[in-house]
Amino acid sequence: MSTAIQVATSVKEGDHLIWVIDDANQLKKLPLSKNERTYANRLIGQQEKIVPINQYNRMIYIYCVPDGDKYEVLEESRKTGHLLLAGIKKNKIKSITIISDSAAPDIDLAVAEGLSLSNYQFLKYKQDQKKLKAPLSTIKIKAAAGRKAAVRELNEIHRATVKARDLVNEPLSYLTALQFSAEIEKLGKESGFSTTVLTKKKIEALKMGGVLAVNAGSQHPPTFNILEWKPSKPVNNNPVILVGKGIVYDTGGLSLKATPNSMDKMKSDMAGAAAAIGAISCLAKNDIPLHVIGLIPATDNRPGENAYTPGDVINMHNGYTVEVLNTDAEGRMILADALSYAQKYRPELVLDIATLTGAASRAIGPLGMVMMGTAGEAVKAKLMEYGELVHERLVEFPLWDEYKSQLNSDIADLKNIGGTEAGAITAGKFLEHFTDYPWLHLDIAGVAFLDNLDSYRGKNATGTGVRLLYHFLKSMSETHE
Ligand code: BES
Ligand code: ZN
Ligand code: ZN
Repeated sequence: MSTAIQVATSVKEGDHLIWVIDDANQLKKLPLSKNERTYANRLIGQQEKIVPINQYNRMIYIYCVPDGDKYEVLEESRKTGHLLLAGIKKNKIKSITIISDSAAPDIDLAVAEGLSLSNYQFLKYKQDQKKLKAPLSTIKIKAAAGRKAAVRELNEIHRATVKARDLVNEPLSYLTALQFSAEIEKLGKESGFSTTVLTKKKIEALKMGGVLAVNAGSQHPPTFNILEWKPSKPVNNNPVILVGKGIVYDTGGLSLKATPNSMDKMKSDMAGAAAAIGAISCLAKNDIPLHVIGLIPATDNRPGENAYTPGDVINMHNGYTVEVLNTDAEGRMILADALSYAQKYRPELVLDIATLTGAASRAIGPLGMVMMGTAGEAVKAKLMEYGELVHERLVEFPLWDEYKSQLNSDIADLKNIGGTEAGAITAGKFLEHFTDYPWLHLDIAGVAFLDNLDSYRGKNATGTGVRLLYHFLKSMSETHE
């Protein structure tokens, strides 16, 4: 469920407000009584970030922006949005208007982003939705003429992030690969990108052995989804491609996930796909002049009469043979086919995003994603910078040559698992074999789905990746030569 983020056309008496200031001197501008101002002054002097003023007909939440660098201040402001929601809920406020007198740019947008993402709920399966639905439905931002487009853009980014969260929160009982494709098609129609769904027959014809192997134990057919956003005047001749892992459920297959609770959140194993889909819909909605293609292989991974087995040798889409030694390393099997399929587009850059390894999650926990790849240093640096800006941070792991030998198979070209160490890297190393273009791999296993509430990222699906990919690709369109 999304919260509408709009431009405030006028601010009326009685409108609930969030007023952003840099220091107590700016309190003069606010519609406060003498007592209220004295009170606010005192609290700000005590380093309170938020001062709520109850004026009976309305609330004014004063937010005094803390010191810090640009990235810190933006993230603090998103988190403040999250903190503000508690009071807004308690007061059953339906609509709130943000006014910023801060010299720091875009603080109002950051507060709105934190507030709206915190207000997200997944109520589809609750009987009493009316009662449970949070009251806040609209966030207005008082923006000067030149910033109205930025408010509309934020609304689309919010909607795309929430869409990704909804898809990730959907259980397999609803979101089979076929249903996932139907959702992608529906979103394409709404957002303006085109979609092609390859069904099992076509996947067979294309000899996508990785996708078919992972799907072999399933009752549901796989799909391979192609999303395309081709603006009328793209700045790039060769497309940028987003590849997303679309495992709609990961039991591990015959190498069944055996450790306690390790299967509980595996409906989220298509979070990479959801992030790619969300980013593409957002690019389309905001009419970003960059030609982008999304490739989403989708299936569940489960044991079954015909399931692929440890020891099997699979013929992949690009002709490589892979010896499967663990059917739970299924993400790389389907991604490998998608990455080799991407070659035909002669892409300028391919980014894959996937909940690929527990190892990535163990290495850095829920604080960021792990990046690897062969794209140039400038591209990596730019992506990392946008990671800081939207606070979806990245850490680079190496793809040193020596890791490759861990994937040597006695009987096939490659095996699908490495040794006990460096699991996130050997997964990346596996994928590298299927690329022949500048490539980046993002492992979001740690950040896609949270067990505990983390500010505006929420609990359960976070939608991580949508904001990063959107902002990064938008900037690519702006600086393209
Ligand atoms: N989907 C999992 C990775 C994962 C684990 C995502 C935890 C989110 C949270 C992936 O398919 C998997 O099972 N990977 C194995 C690979 C291993 C068998 C080489 C893993 O990480 O244990
Ligand atoms: Zn797995
Ligand atoms: Zn998986």
